[in-house]
Amino acid sequence: MKGLILAGGAGTRLRPLTYTGAKQLVPVANRPVLFYVVDNLVDAGITDIGVIISPETGGEIRSTLGDGSRFGAQFTFIPQDKPAGLAHAVATAEPFLRGSDFVMYLGDNLIGTPIREPVEAFRSSDEFAASVMLKEVTNPSSFGVAEVDAAGKVTRLVEKPKEPKSNLALVGIYLFRPSIFDAIAQIKPSPRGELEITDAISKVIELGGKVNFSRVTSWWLDTGKKDDLLLANDTVLDDWLKPAIDGDVDQASRISGRVRVAKGARIERSTIRGPVVIGEGAVVSHSRIGPFTAIGDRVSIVRSTVEHSVIMQDSAITDIARLEDSLIGKRVAVKPGASRHGALSLMVGDDCVIELSGD
Ligand code: DAU
Repeated sequence: MKGLILAGGAGTRLRPLTYTGAKQLVPVANRPVLFYVVDNLVDAGITDIGVIISPETGGEIRSTLGDGSRFGAQFTFIPQDKPAGLAHAVATAEPFLRGSDFVMYLGDNLIGTPIREPVEAFRSSDEFAASVMLKEVTNPSSFGVAEVDAAGKVTRLVEKPKEPKSNLALVGIYLFRPSIFDAIAQIKPSPRGELEITDAISKVIELGGKVNFSRVTSWWLDTGKKDDLLLANDTVLDDWLKPAIDGDVDQASRISGRVRVAKGARIERSTIRGPVVIGEGAVVSHSRIGPFTAIGDRVSIVRSTVEHSVIMQDSAITDIARLEDSLIGKRVAVKPGASRHGALSLMVGDDCVIELSGD
């Protein structure tokens, strides 16, 4: 069985971060989302993996993932010239997938459970032409929605319906056989101009194939927007962080709870309250960090308090009394201004959001 990770697309929702980087590489607990996707496939015994990439971010995805050896996998990068839909991405990968059953995994999805069991069940019986993973949600209109019958089969799938017939959302993990290509060949682009995988699966059903589903009972995070990303960070830090102090922590600092300090990081005269992860080469001096905070590689935090935030690599926070619920991109400086009359002086890129204290 092969794997197909979708890491193309346009990534408009996480702007401004996605102006300069792929959304699948946004870090959660200091690891790109895409790494958790690969881990989950490899854990299910799937190591021959195709990765769909776009012209804009393909280079960055390739260089971050490498050839796959560090994950115990082998990657084949497959360029998709435009983000024409999930089914278009599958059709683009046909030469790589030909003749093989496969797992398609959206590169920006994080779930809290292994996919081993549904993959094993799909492998060991050919009763079903496809299988999807579903989760009950309160806002089904934002997702692909499945209608299911009492026998445990999917009867219909609709992409982001205005009036959803169920609260079962499609988690971005799908199991397919080569029959999916015949179905894709018979569908037309949707009103939003994309070849939808939901339409292709509905076509499989129409052509007489049976589609089953498994339910995701753990958390599932679609790392689309700032609050989703902070929540993903909280959850992964809470559930998966393995504490380790590989950097230098001086005698005057206090560390409590689950904290990971990477090699080359320095903590001086500071208090760290876990769960917190601190990246390679970061410097934290005279500061308080945490809980629920990820400090990226080579970040510097000086005389500041940072709580419930993600600070990405090479940024600097200096003399800030309290920073919380924040998502800070790469190479950003946050510091007090030199102005003596209380004015703000900002240099801010497009689509940023700045919330100043209302006190
Ligand atoms: O997150 C789950 C949802 O993902 C499902 O419930 C929906 O049924 C499914 O259509 C999808 O919806 P999104 O609106 O979140 O899809 P998005 O455009 O964000 O694309 C998902 C991933 O696939 C993302 O990593 C980018 C990649 N992609 C997307 C398109 C349209 C490609 O690689 N190529 C493409 O052409």
